[in-house]
Amino acid sequence: YGSTSINNKGNLAIGDVDTIDLAKQFGTPLYVYDVAFIRERARGFKLAFEDQKVKSQVAYASKAFSAIAMIQLAEEEGLSLDVVSGGELYTAIKAGFPVERIHFHGNNKSKQELEMAVESGIGCIVIDNFYEIELLKAICSEKNATINILLRVTPGVEAHTHDYILTGQEDSKFGFDLQNGQAEEALRTVLDVKNFVVLGLHCHIGSQIFETTGVLLAAKKIIEQMLHWKNKYSFEATVLNLGGGFGIRYTKEDEPISPYQYVSEMLKEVKKLTEQHSLKLPEIWIEPGRSLVGDAGITLYQVGSSKEVPRVRKYLAVDGGMSDNIRPALYQAKYEAVLANKPLEKVKEVVSIAGKCCESGDMLIWDLPLPEIDDEDILAVFCTGAYGYSMANNYNRLPRPAVVFVENGKSTLVVKRESYEDLIKLDLPLY
Ligand code: LLP
Repeated sequence: YGSTSINNKGNLAIGDVDTIDLAKQFGTPLYVYDVAFIRERARGFKLAFEDQKVKSQVAYASKAFSAIAMIQLAEEEGLSLDVVSGGELYTAIKAGFPVERIHFHGNNKSKQELEMAVESGIGCIVIDNFYEIELLKAICSEKNATINILLRVTPGVEAHTHDYILTGQEDSKFGFDLQNGQAEEALRTVLDVKNFVVLGLHCHIGSQIFETTGVLLAAKKIIEQMLHWKNKYSFEATVLNLGGGFGIRYTKEDEPISPYQYVSEMLKEVKKLTEQHSLKLPEIWIEPGRSLVGDAGITLYQVGSSKEVPRVRKYLAVDGGMSDNIRPALYQAKYEAVLANKPLEKVKEVVSIAGKCCESGDMLIWDLPLPEIDDEDILAVFCTGAYGYSMANNYNRLPRPAVVFVENGKSTLVVKRESYEDLIKLDLPLY
């Protein structure tokens, strides 16, 4: 998985660094990212656009994993950045990310967040609803600022993924409905705001998607509207943002197409449709999160207690759980794992990996075949780079794990492990 390998000690390695050494040096649980892998994915996405000579922005959806070092890496790779909150924007600004390449998303951006965005000189705000149009209009006119905007539309397309991460269907909290006139009304409204530069449209149909059918259909619906709006309002979109959502391979059952292929198919369709309707080809923006960092990351855990339920199953607990990876509990997400100190040893038993939180649902993996288990074993769970650290929490007052980047055989601590002191740092005594 990702770019892990087995080294000459027989241990699992990532980015040519021994995972057992990493666990010893930085402790567990530990998130580890292979930087070369992230770079390669970023380049793959960009290459697909270059090969088809389509102007683009590939924005890293920082909700997947936001930290100063990660934002710096995105900048180094020439990516743009998608942020969805004041906190993500703040992180990006602190990391020195060029603000003109930041896009601001969200279905309930606050006045304060929008003010911060406008003051920072942000590249683009993706407007989600009528409330936001009014709020942003007032802020811009008060500050006498001009701002680039995209309108987020909901094309009414159902993607095949988990219900909670579906976003493009009609009954969604996001965006202006494309089919019932809402999007058109929004467009009319924003075209009349003198402080807005309306760049174009945005849609995102969901996450962890394996096939292009959904996005192609969404593109078709949007481009048909674009034709209609060109004729009716002389409005021609210069940007079409088709969102993120490219799937990755968490387990053997997952069969995603490559980012390169996904983007290539998308571009061919958009080119065909715009030509058909004699529309000028807009810049195409995308915003992958998971596919840039998901399979670049692993989590290392120390194994601990176990419990046998005779004739039913054996539970093996690790020193983390739903506090550092809530995805199994939230989406029944599946993961693969190995014992990092003996990844190739022959299978001895099937165990279920439990977390240490006081919650029966805190199970990371059901029915995982493993070799004989010893106290000192380190469990490596694959593909935890997206929505792991970023959705981590302090349930049971577990400190959030550290994050390490590895590249060319070198490891760098990029997020410190939380301490107990950190856990109480915002608490105020009653007496
Ligand atoms: N753009 C928009 C507007 C989005 O809503 C999202 C994800 C992305 C881009 C990036 O999607 P990606 O390429 O990462 O799939 N916590 C969930 C995923 C929620 C995704 C929310 N939006 C998970 O752990 O699977």
